[in-house]
Amino acid sequence: MEAVTTAAGLRRILAEWRQAGLRTALVPTMGALHEGHLALVDQAKQLAGRVVATIFVNPLQFGPEEDLTRYPRDLERDQGLLGGRGVDVVYAPAVAEMYPAPPLVTIDPGPMAGVLEGAVRPGHFAGVLTVLAKLFHLVGPDVACFGQKDIQQAVLVRRMVADLDWPIEVVVVPTVRDADGLALSSRNRLLSPPERQQALVLSRMLRTVESAWLAGVRGGTALLEVGREVLARVPAVRIDYAVIVDPAQLDALDAVVPGSIAAVAARVGTTRLIDNVTLAERGS
Ligand code: PAF
Repeated sequence: MEAVTTAAGLRRILAEWRQAGLRTALVPTMGALHEGHLALVDQAKQLAGRVVATIFVNPLQFGPEEDLTRYPRDLERDQGLLGGRGVDVVYAPAVAEMYPAPPLVTIDPGPMAGVLEGAVRPGHFAGVLTVLAKLFHLVGPDVACFGQKDIQQAVLVRRMVADLDWPIEVVVVPTVRDADGLALSSRNRLLSPPERQQALVLSRMLRTVESAWLAGVRGGTALLEVGREVLARVPAVRIDYAVIVDPAQLDALDAVVPGSIAAVAARVGTTRLIDNVTLAERGS
């Protein structure tokens, strides 16, 4: 595996691949990797002959009160994990390489960035889509892989690619969970052992909503009511939102249909966690 830190270095490698006619997949990350990220790599390897993974903690997507400085960083370990999974190139630029000057022109993510995560984190998705636009231009991937756990991000990336006519296939990879149900997240390592225990209520709530859905409950209000009962049993977990939305526009739904997304976000101690499930037909 090659590790590069400059756009020029990455372009040189990509030019060779292009000349050889190789299909390229992109796995963008902020590092602090776990099996969820590595599942993206595994998927990328199935879909393309070459895989570029990026590691960049993007300051543009953190608000002034958020955990940019606290965000876990371990480049050496991350590179080892990516190499072990067969990534061809890791691009890990410094902030000054990615943003030689603070960008004045950025991506406007539109109204879907004003709900759910965006309502709590103003500017977050403009930052996410701006760095992804830069990476898409730099790498020119045929396919880019994103995790289902950050479902709003995945929906917005899909929409950006469609609206801006980018010839990139956006693939959403299912959430990887610990055995007890906790969705893997780089932020989980910020939880104390009691907080980690409390955090399990998020996946428990989603499982309860899913069971009610599979048992035939179709009203969004009724489904959320059973979910909120579960959440209320752990008052230390402070809920930001618990919703059921459609997967294309992120509109809140009352008549829930297959493919709808049940999503939850909450603060556990000082750590903010999100999780979601897709409500599928039984057996699908
Ligand atoms: O999901 C993430 O880790 C980040 O939002 C991403 C896509 C790498 C952009 O910085």
